[in-house]
Amino acid sequence: MKKIAIRDIKVLLTAPGGTDLVVVKVETDEPGLHGWGCATFTQRYETVSSAITEYLRPLLIGRCVQDIEEIWQLSMNSAYWRNGPVLNNAISGVDEALWDIKGKLAGMPVYELLGGKVRPAAAVYRYADGATLNELEEDVRRHMAAGYRYLRVQTGEHSPLAKTKSLVQPEGVPNGSYYDPKQYMEDVIERFRYLREVFGYGLELIHDVHEKLSPIDAVYLSKTLEAYRPFYLEDVLPPEQSEWLDLIRAQSSVPMAMGELFVSPKDWKDLIVSHRIDYIRCHLSMIGGLTPARKLAALCECFGIRTAWHGPYDLTPVGMAAQLHLDVTTPNFGIQEFYGFDSEVKQVFPGCPEMKGGFLYPSDKPGFGVEVDEKAAVEYPCRYRSPAWVESRLPDGTAVRP
Ligand code: CO
Repeated sequence: MKKIAIRDIKVLLTAPGGTDLVVVKVETDEPGLHGWGCATFTQRYETVSSAITEYLRPLLIGRCVQDIEEIWQLSMNSAYWRNGPVLNNAISGVDEALWDIKGKLAGMPVYELLGGKVRPAAAVYRYADGATLNELEEDVRRHMAAGYRYLRVQTGEHSPLAKTKSLVQPEGVPNGSYYDPKQYMEDVIERFRYLREVFGYGLELIHDVHEKLSPIDAVYLSKTLEAYRPFYLEDVLPPEQSEWLDLIRAQSSVPMAMGELFVSPKDWKDLIVSHRIDYIRCHLSMIGGLTPARKLAALCECFGIRTAWHGPYDLTPVGMAAQLHLDVTTPNFGIQEFYGFDSEVKQVFPGCPEMKGGFLYPSDKPGFGVEVDEKAAVEYPCRYRSPAWVESRLPDGTAVRP
């Protein structure tokens, strides 16, 4: 087999649809052969870009594009201190681009390289929300009419139902995105009760707690929601409090999902082997790309845990395609989060995966099937923006996890 070398590694920063995205292009010494990978850490995009151009680029130029595993191991070990969201994203950009290239070299979509499809498409969930119960119901009906059977029910920007009740606050609190954990919790219970009353149990409902509760309140929420049979509850606890999951599981059969904040095998290993979770939710680029994700999926299969990879707007269509190719080849796939692609995103990323009736279909083209229009990408420059939700505060002004 003819060896092909990495000729150059480039970073593209682009913000179609108003989200700062990082995409990596690996060029080869074979004319016309290149690959794309997702390296999006939207809150720190320049830092990831610098890690790639200052460190990975000089390390990897001239190396063989076929040697994906060798390059992944070398890149991870080359800094001595391993993992973390910045370095993992940098490695992911190169890793996914190399899988894209391998598919193009083989003339096959990446799902064929991963063993072939076990299902034609991946079921996805969308977000349903509303400031009132009636608005929420309307939003659910809109999604159901489009064919979705899985919906994530949220409480709007920090619990608008609860905002009708006043927060008790001291004088002099700073600006921020305020929520009261107890009011938020009552709001979630009310929404689940209402939706089950209106729609029955033919619809799968998900909720993301986003670490808003104290551990013992997380126990209460998990017990109380059991009657409404959620598909899963996500991040009821922060990763550093995950031992409390034992208490929750002793009292509630609500499936537990965790993982979008994980950045190291240390974060997931014990949770999996001790059966503390039911769904793994990692963000592929945050753990280093497709190479570690397929191993993680296989580890989960051994322990009866299903995949539900993180897929909101801060992910390029290249990254979405990478996890979709994994979804359709993973026997223990559970569900895929999907935010949708707006027109600007589709313009910059021709070949976005197709959505039909609640299912996302991977491209049959060689590689991941997603390209980048580099001219269109520069029309949407990145700029640092700090969304309000990352400045979350408790009613007394304390800054907390968003
Ligand atoms: Co989440």
